[in-house]
Amino acid sequence: MIDVLNLKKTFDTIEALKGISFNIAQGECYGLLGPNGAGKTTTISIMSTLVEPNEGEINIAGIDLRTNPQECKKNIGVVTQELALYNELSAYDNLLFWGGLYDVPKPELIARIDQTMKLFGLFDRKNDKVKTYSGGMKRRINIASALLNKPKILFMDEPTVGIDPQSRNLIFEVVEKLRKEGMTIVYTTHYMEEAERLCDRIGIIDNGKIIAQGTLNELKTSGSMKESVVISFTNLTDAHHSSIANDWKDLLRFDDTLHFYTMDIQGDLSKIIMKCSNIGLDISKIDIKKINLETIFLSLTGKKLRDT
Ligand SMILES: Nc1ncnc2c1ncn2[C@@H]1O[C@H](COP(=O)(O)OP(=O)(O)O)[C@@H](O)[C@H]1O
Ligand SMILES: [Mg+2]
Repeated sequence: MIDVLNLKKTFDTIEALKGISFNIAQGECYGLLGPNGAGKTTTISIMSTLVEPNEGEINIAGIDLRTNPQECKKNIGVVTQELALYNELSAYDNLLFWGGLYDVPKPELIARIDQTMKLFGLFDRKNDKVKTYSGGMKRRINIASALLNKPKILFMDEPTVGIDPQSRNLIFEVVEKLRKEGMTIVYTTHYMEEAERLCDRIGIIDNGKIIAQGTLNELKTSGSMKESVVISFTNLTDAHHSSIANDWKDLLRFDDTLHFYTMDIQGDLSKIIMKCSNIGLDISKIDIKKINLETIFLSLTGKKLRDT
């Protein structure tokens, strides 16, 4: 349904995309997971014809995007990272405006607006001005407006950033429903929980490149992923750190916390704790980290997905 080959994009001197490729089958929910600045929005913007790439091929629903962008657009709904809504208009009038840009007969459009407002739990508030809406409600309207042309493909760029848990859950439910109905979805996020829950396949993106790709299970079992013991200390110094690093090669430090990677948590846990206590370290917290997308990202890049 979507074929992207060797996409490159440079802004002035910044190489935002350094050769991105992926294929997405019809009905798949594909997650682009990566930290801020990885290139997610640039990828979505190019696929939705808002930004031109420097290089690369894109085929959407059998249509070449570079030679036939208008035809491509007909198949696509886009939920941009930045909200595009008129605050002084009601939610209903916003949808009427955005929906009016599509080639949908008015009675049909009105029926679709009612339907999507119900889907997003905002039908009762449809005549209220958008400026009275919470961030989560605005986001729901933003997604609703992307669905009015009944697209085959939906691009969602970090749709849950900065919204309340209730709106987030509702958005998850809508994504799951659309996916069940056979819509092809590209969903970008820097929250691994979202990619794990919603996506059939995930591309991990960092620094303008996809560094790993597959189903969650494939990502977990590919490479030599290890589980980790994460210990926080009240008195960790550089000296402690190097003393431990002598014994434990597979180690990362974040401030007061050490990450010990191991293939055998059960067997290694007591050894690790003993070592720490022998050199006078005071433990404030111990966490056992099973393999998940966050740990996969960390092991591939040495970085956390999020700063917090
Ligand atoms: N219009 C632009 N002008 C200059 N640099 C940009 C522009 N858009 C994005 N970038 C840069 O490209 C890189 C990728 O950005 P982006 O695609 O927005 O990442 P993400 O959505 O994953 O956070 C970043 O370094 C960003 O600063
Ligand atoms: Mg972005």
